[in-house]
Amino acid sequence: MNFKELGRTGLKVSEIGIGTEHLFDQTKDVVESVILSAIENGINYFDVLFSVQHYLEKLALPFKKYRDQLIITGHLGTTESQGKAKRNRSIKESRKAFLRILSVLKIDYVDILNIQYVKANEFEKVMNPKGLLDLAISFQDEGKARYLGLSTHDTSVAKQAIKSGKFNMIMFPINLANHGLMGRDELLTVCSKNKIGLVAIKPFAGGKLLKRNQTTQFAKYQTGGLSFKKKIPPDITPSQCIYYVKSFPEVSVVLMGVKNVEELNENLGYLTMQESELDYSPFIKIF
Ligand SMILES: NC(=O)c1ccc[n+]([C@@H]2O[C@H](COP(=O)([O-])OP(=O)(O)OC[C@H]3O[C@@H](n4cnc5c(N)ncnc54)[C@H](OP(=O)(O)O)[C@@H]3O)[C@@H](O)[C@H]2O)c1
Repeated sequence: MNFKELGRTGLKVSEIGIGTEHLFDQTKDVVESVILSAIENGINYFDVLFSVQHYLEKLALPFKKYRDQLIITGHLGTTESQGKAKRNRSIKESRKAFLRILSVLKIDYVDILNIQYVKANEFEKVMNPKGLLDLAISFQDEGKARYLGLSTHDTSVAKQAIKSGKFNMIMFPINLANHGLMGRDELLTVCSKNKIGLVAIKPFAGGKLLKRNQTTQFAKYQTGGLSFKKKIPPDITPSQCIYYVKSFPEVSVVLMGVKNVEELNENLGYLTMQESELDYSPFIKIF
């Protein structure tokens, strides 16, 4: 596993990270085995997307055990509603939700506190006094968060966030399916010029790129703005998808989602593959 510096933070992050969205409904055994197996394979970057009790409980044991070796990102902007995650921008409820992440995971701080899924029409509100940014800064002042991040599926929001100088890290979808996305190259350049860590989310476009032989609808949130239908080639592999995202020097972490250890192991195959097996160039023409 290679490690990269996350922007100017000084944090050394594994080039592959684990997104935990698709572990939400898995059993405790499956979640624990994915996290432990990822750690054994050298992965140190983990994304904790939700503040839902049963999901956090499943992550708690391995996170507590290996806390010192891990870079953990927690999110602001969703809360729990009847066991499910719900987008919620209330400051009071977001405060409670983040404190629950810390207390259920039994950790004192997160390495990065991320303001989640910011849309263009709410960016100003997030940034205004008493908005989510102020809440994130207050947690940073209390030592509960080391660095701040923002995730979005909109290149213009990502660029504004970087230019504000308030964030150390940006999460944005980068995958073969958004190869032609307008503004994506410019975003990569802005990240690099400002030394901002880029965490590339959705390397498989939320799993759509791996629906081999199927005609699949890609949604804007999976591509950062493009919506289209495409027949997925029969021979595309997770390793090629990862290698494509990894090929951008601006990307610090490829944040992949898996739903079990079998998927994790298959995806980590890229580590031992020959260059020829990782060639993704035939798929660029398709997307
Ligand atoms: N939504 C947001 O706003 C947001 C913001 C910030 C961070 N994130 C983070 O980004 C992470 C990454 O996004 P993601 O998990 O949606 O996208 P992803 O990595 O593109 O897709 C993950 C999905 O791909 C499929 N997959 C993975 N490996 C496979 C394999 N070997 N064979 C077949 N299918 C395979 C699985 O879904 P199926 O098998 O079910 O098809 C898996 O759950 C999330 O987990 C989350 O932590 C999201």
